[in-house]
Amino acid sequence: MTHRTIPCGPDNPLRVLVVGAGSMGQQWLTTVTAAPETELAGIVDLDLDAARRSAADLGRPDLPVGSDAVALAADTGAQAIVNVTIPVAHHPVTTAALFAGLPVLGEKPIADTLAQALSLAAAAEVSGELFMVSQSRRWNPQLFALRGMLGELGAIGTLTTEFFKAPHMGGFREEMAYPLLIDMAIHAFDSARFLLGADPVSAYCQAYNPPWSWYEGDAAASAVFEMEGGARYAYNGSWCSPGAETSWNGTWRASGEKGSALWDGDTEPVLVADVQPAERARSPYSDIGGALRVFVESLRTGTSPMGEVHENTMSLAMVEAAVESARTGQLVLVDDVLDQAYAVALRDETRPDVRAALAGWPSVRGALAPHQAPPPAASA
Ligand SMILES: NC(=O)c1ccc[n+]([C@@H]2O[C@H](COP(=O)([O-])OP(=O)(O)OC[C@H]3O[C@@H](n4cnc5c(N)ncnc54)[C@H](O)[C@@H]3O)[C@@H](O)[C@H]2O)c1
Repeated sequence: MTHRTIPCGPDNPLRVLVVGAGSMGQQWLTTVTAAPETELAGIVDLDLDAARRSAADLGRPDLPVGSDAVALAADTGAQAIVNVTIPVAHHPVTTAALFAGLPVLGEKPIADTLAQALSLAAAAEVSGELFMVSQSRRWNPQLFALRGMLGELGAIGTLTTEFFKAPHMGGFREEMAYPLLIDMAIHAFDSARFLLGADPVSAYCQAYNPPWSWYEGDAAASAVFEMEGGARYAYNGSWCSPGAETSWNGTWRASGEKGSALWDGDTEPVLVADVQPAERARSPYSDIGGALRVFVESLRTGTSPMGEVHENTMSLAMVEAAVESARTGQLVLVDDVLDQAYAVALRDETRPDVRAALAGWPSVRGALAPHQAPPPAASA
């Protein structure tokens, strides 16, 4: 999607507000402060004390703080925001910013629901501002290498992720209905789309809560997706699994026509196949610092980045399809999930201009597909 460009970069840093001074907000504050291409203009949180504490922790007690991003941007001359609020706040905070002329780099997920994600995609179209989701694990150079290996394996039949961790994080994750699927599995689902270069067709999922779990909702799940082209992606995970924990990226296996590729999520992936090794592109970026650099480059050049809201929406569709299947016990078609979300988005939209843009979409897949971005220019 084309968006408004802003002259910015290391010689002309982008003035950024960090919105949400919670635990992930602290990482963003450090990252925005350290990056040569950005300048921290202020901190926003509904909890002003949290914003002030964060400013003091950064050694900048005089940094402007506020409880409303658009108002603080007007006061400080900020040019963009990083939205690190809780998922239910993503839609209102990002919508207000886009229509105030502020491009947004948002934490995953795009929004609390797929319907709200569709609303935000249309809001980006109408406002002409860039809305990019920082799907931080997408930028991992080892993931890029694994993607290259899949390209050497011929047709891919099966892709799997095993994810077993035992974090005690407290907060919203221990209270929500499907913490693993909604808060964590989206990273793996997004990586699966990237690795296969394919979007999902259907999902079957069982979610469950082991008896010793310290989560209220289902902390474990097994999901299988049919992907476009016929490959199956199988995800098996638990967030209450002490002992022999996997990496935070999970453990991956791709099974193809000519062999297999393995990745433990922490070290270099391994190709087990009788093929001529090719030169594999690697991401020049990593983690949220990489997402921030790409955001600034995209604002400067006008190119549409990976993670642009349209491109990222199918990762959230995989989450909603898995949750719907877990809830109903049925195989779920992703097109049905998209259609339902689209109907809700049209019904609930409060901005006439955004509703008109949504109503003009030929189909949800049709509206999202042209924006599927190729991987960025990568160095070997
Ligand atoms: N990429 C990753 O690896 C990763 C890791 C952790 C969290 N996250 C994401 O980051 C986001 C924040 O997670 P967290 O763990 O920091 O949550 P958190 O609860 O610790 O912090 C969220 C903060 O947002 C503030 N807030 C809520 N609504 C607001 C509003 N309307 N305006 C301004 N501030 C508001 C809250 O007061 C709180 O301080 C979530 O979307 C989460 O999924 C991503």
